[in-house]
Amino acid sequence: MIRCAEVEKTYTLGSERVHALRGVDLSIERPGFYGIMGQSGSGKSTLLHLLAALDRPDAGEIEIAGKAIHTLSEREATAFRRKGLGIVFQSFNLIPTLSASENIELPGLLAGEDRQWLRKRSAELLDLLGLGERGRHRPEAMSGGEQQRVAIARALLYSPPVLLADEPTGNLDSANSDRLWRLLGKVAEEQDITVVMVTHEPAAASHCERVFVIRDGTVHGTIETEGLDAGGVAARYQQFIGAA
Ligand SMILES: Nc1ncnc2c1ncn2[C@@H]1O[C@H](COP(=O)(O)OP(=O)(O)O)[C@@H](O)[C@H]1O
Ligand SMILES: [Mg+2]
Repeated sequence: MIRCAEVEKTYTLGSERVHALRGVDLSIERPGFYGIMGQSGSGKSTLLHLLAALDRPDAGEIEIAGKAIHTLSEREATAFRRKGLGIVFQSFNLIPTLSASENIELPGLLAGEDRQWLRKRSAELLDLLGLGERGRHRPEAMSGGEQQRVAIARALLYSPPVLLADEPTGNLDSANSDRLWRLLGKVAEEQDITVVMVTHEPAAASHCERVFVIRDGTVHGTIETEGLDAGGVAARYQQFIGAA
């Protein structure tokens, strides 16, 4: 589903060069709920940006669902982002004047999709994400957790094989965070897709089936989380990161 080989990315800030990624190798073979875990500044968001074809690696190869992302032109990358993958961020980025349903349908409306199909699809997605009653509500009338679920529904509009999430619970309290992690696991399983979540929290990572630990721009190891709770994941994580 996802394959990275020797992926490198360097940012230049004035005269300073930041090696954000120094040779990332990572392979996800089948659908499921996966985590990328690391401390602030370790390169997590950079990696997710590259997976989403929002930016290009300086070296290395990235393949998603059989497509070589690193070779796409600007135009091809835009098309890939529309249907080949969904992405959500810490901020929900909903349009405040539109209802939940309208927010979910908006990318399709802009692309000229059939309105009836859009209505049906957004109703399905509201159901999938436990928002059945919330379709007519505007973001301001919803909790943060509900708004993030609308953002996830919007990202799933075209049933992409891959959903990426960058610290999706960064703005949520712990009860809403827990609910969202469970939901991402359910989405991966029921829709048979690959969900990749970036996080620095063991509690989040414990919901994933496998966690890639990233440190200083490379993958330092993986954690198989079966049978581990948040404390167990935290302990394994510390082995890779050191008592920093
Ligand atoms: N656009 C950018 N320009 C310059 N440096 C950047 C840029 N984006 C990220 N970096 C640097 O790259 C490193 C990795 O950042 P990032 O991928 O955002 O880490 P994380 O998401 O794990 O906190 C950091 O040192 C950060 O300051
Ligand atoms: Mg980040």
